[in-house]
Amino acid sequence: MSRYRFPDGFIWGAATSAYQIEGSPLADGAGPSIWQRFAHTPGMMANGDHGDTACDHYRRYKEDVQLMRALGLHSYRFSVAWARVLPEGTGRVNQKGLDFYSRLVDELLQHGIQPNVTLFHWDLPAALDDRGGWLNRDSAHWFADYASVVFKALDGRVQRWSTINEPWVVTDGGYLHGVLAPGHRSKYEAPIAAHNLMRASGAGIQAYRAVGRHEIGVVFNIEPKYPASQRPDDEAAAQRAHAYMNEQFADPALLGSYPPALKDIFGDAWPDFPADDFQLTRQPVDFVGINYYTRSVVKHDEQGYPCRASRVRQHHATHTETGWEVYEQGLADTLMWFKHRYGDLPLYVTENGAAFYDPPVAEGEVVEDPLRVAYLRKHLRTLHQCIEDGINLKGYYAWSLLDNLEWSLGFAKRFGLYHVDYASLTRTPKASAKFYAKVIETNGTALA
Ligand code: BGC
Repeated sequence: MSRYRFPDGFIWGAATSAYQIEGSPLADGAGPSIWQRFAHTPGMMANGDHGDTACDHYRRYKEDVQLMRALGLHSYRFSVAWARVLPEGTGRVNQKGLDFYSRLVDELLQHGIQPNVTLFHWDLPAALDDRGGWLNRDSAHWFADYASVVFKALDGRVQRWSTINEPWVVTDGGYLHGVLAPGHRSKYEAPIAAHNLMRASGAGIQAYRAVGRHEIGVVFNIEPKYPASQRPDDEAAAQRAHAYMNEQFADPALLGSYPPALKDIFGDAWPDFPADDFQLTRQPVDFVGINYYTRSVVKHDEQGYPCRASRVRQHHATHTETGWEVYEQGLADTLMWFKHRYGDLPLYVTENGAAFYDPPVAEGEVVEDPLRVAYLRKHLRTLHQCIEDGINLKGYYAWSLLDNLEWSLGFAKRFGLYHVDYASLTRTPKASAKFYAKVIETNGTALA
């Protein structure tokens, strides 16, 4: 019965982000973000979707805290929209924007749920994009100043913070391939944006040490890369893809350097960064958050951009609606690799989940989502094994509490434990919510 029992004090949570769920992006004096602009640029979003209403969490947050209670969550991970707090990105504070997060934090605490706050989950104030966004070296200080405002307002009530969520996605989607805001396509810009994001994370951590009393870390999406064959060119391709997606961000933060493969990948677009910068990027963290969804198996491919590698689809495997292979062993390999390369830091899985087809919703009935239940079960069993194998894992956050705006893929890709009807905004539990509630209640033993 107790085979899958997690350690006492293990934190069970669920995660969301501001632009994906809140709606009312310009309410109460907020400034526009780059996602507000991107989503209202014709052709950028599937189905013309945008975050004007999303899940209407900005107005329904109390109802959503009740959903968290029904799950029995210990902690809720959400992000703060920078442009609500500082409409121009720097300078003037918009108290009403800050008040929203203050009310949310109070509501969570009243219900015994620990807030876990991410300062940047992709929605840069548009006013800062007009000043070059992440290409401007000042962005590190803009971020630290913004973060300080939020720390001062909430650190008395918030125990755990993260600086930046998934810098790889910001730079690969936003600056290299143009499929996410701000929609740039430049091999010359991507490494600069990446570097400034890691400088910003470091500056945010430094700022926290001056005013904060709890814990701060950074969140990476790690996707392990496996060579499609034992041929040396496939193995080299997998190593490049790994350096590009995983080490490009974790190395400057935790080792204070970049892997040499990046120069090979970017060629003349790889800048000589000032050596001093690495003192800023490498700030001591209290934990690292890892978002894990899938792996990739890669082969050498001269046309593969930018790593001269391309993904080989695993036909025997289950794939999610976003085309991602379900591969729970990749989560164990990721955590082991992380520990081996960066040392025995406290770790959280800050996101893990899957978009699957959900059947039509009948009022009053639970939405059956067996594939999502199976996904969660497999990954949580794997995590239990990781802890037995010595990984210093403190908690787990399912992505996501609610169906929400899957960025440029729109509302069609549903990751939620709760189904959201976007016309009526009704929330309906899925079987995965019931399952997860049981896992939490039994501290894992229900995984048997
Ligand atoms: C992001 C989320 C996103 C999820 C599923 C992560 O990349 O942090 O915002 O919705 O994965 O794609």
